Amino acid sequence: MDFSVIAVGKCSPMILPKIRKLDMDKQLHFIQCDLQDVNQINDTIKLIHQQYDHIDLFVANAGIFIHTWGHLFEQIFRLLTFSKLKVVDPHFAINLFSHVRIFTQLEDLMEKSQNPSPRCVFVGSTISRAGGISLLLENPEKFWSLPHFIGYKAYADAKLLIALYAKYLANRLSQKDSKIRVVSTHPGVVPGGVYRNLFFPSRILFNYFAAPFLRKPETAAKIVLGTGLMDRFANGAYYEDGEEIELVTKMSPEKLDKLGRLLEKMVSSGQQ
Ligand SMILES: NC(=O)c1ccc[n+]([C@@H]2O[C@H](COP(=O)([O-])OP(=O)(O)OC[C@H]3O[C@@H](n4cnc5c(N)ncnc54)[C@H](OP(=O)(O)O)[C@@H]3O)[C@@H](O)[C@H]2O)c1
Repeated sequence: MDFSVIAVGKCSPMILPKIRKLDMDKQLHFIQCDLQDVNQINDTIKLIHQQYDHIDLFVANAGIFIHTWGHLFEQIFRLLTFSKLKVVDPHFAINLFSHVRIFTQLEDLMEKSQNPSPRCVFVGSTISRAGGISLLLENPEKFWSLPHFIGYKAYADAKLLIALYAKYLANRLSQKDSKIRVVSTHPGVVPGGVYRNLFFPSRILFNYFAAPFLRKPETAAKIVLGTGLMDRFANGAYYEDGEEIELVTKMSPEKLDKLGRLLEKMVSSGQQ
C-alpha cells in the first residue's frame, strides 16, 4: 500500500525491534520533538508543511501519567518559596496543549486530503471520569496554576479536556462544512512506559505481575487505529473498545464552545 507515516515524538519508533522488522524505512518519517517545548512543536509543524501536501489520518497519542520525582520536588519548592511563577502542569502541556497546537496548525493539510473524510483521533483515557473542570470556566487562571503533586488529577483533567475538545472540534469543523471528522478514544489498560513514574511497588505489580492479564500494546494500537478507520465513525464521539460511550461530564453546547475557544486561544496567543 502506498502511504507514509509521520511519527512525532522523543524517540524514533525504529528503536523497537518489532517496528524495525516491518521494514518501513522508506514509509516512516520520524521527527524528533519534545512536546513540552513550544518551539520544537512549531519547528515540527513547519517541517511537515514543507515536506507534505496532505494528511489523511491524524492520531494524537503522546501522553504522560504521574509526575517524575523532579517535578514533585519542583512543586514543593514553588509552594515553600511562595513562587509566583506560573507553570502549566506537564500533563496539560503534553497531553492537551501540544495536541491542540499541532492539530490546529495542520488542519489545512487535512482539508487537502483526497479522502472524503480525513480523520483525527485523540487518545483519551477512561480516567477522564475522575476529571473535573468546573473551575476552568469560572476562573481559568486559578485552574491552570493549581499545584499538582502526584499528577493523577492533572492527568484525569487533561484527558477529560481532550475528549471535550474533540467534541468541540467536531462541531466547529462541521459548522464550516469541513470534511474532517474527529473522535477521542480510550486505548485500554496497557502495562508499559506510561506507568514508569508510578510508585515503585505499584509499578512492579502493574507492569510485571498484572501484565499477562492486561491488554498488549499491539492490541491497543489496533483499537486506536481501528477506531479512526471504522465505518460507523460518529463525529465528536468518545469511544472505548470501539463502542461509543457518553462522557460522564456533560456540557451545554454554549459551554463546550467557550471551552474549545479558550483552549485554542491559549495556544494561538502563545499563553500555552
Ligand atoms: N497504557 C495505558 O494503560 C493507558 C490507559 C489510558 C490511556 N492511555 C493513553 O494512551 C497513550 C499512549 O500511552 P502508552 O501506554 O502507549 O504509553 P507510552 O508507551 O509511555 O507512550 C506514550 C508516548 O508519548 C511520548 N511522550 C511522552 N512525553 C513526550 C514528550 N514530552 N514529547 C514527545 N513525546 C512524548 C512517549 O515518548 P517516550 O517514550 O520517548 O518518552 C511515548 O512514545 C497516552 O496518551 C496515554 O495517556 C494509556
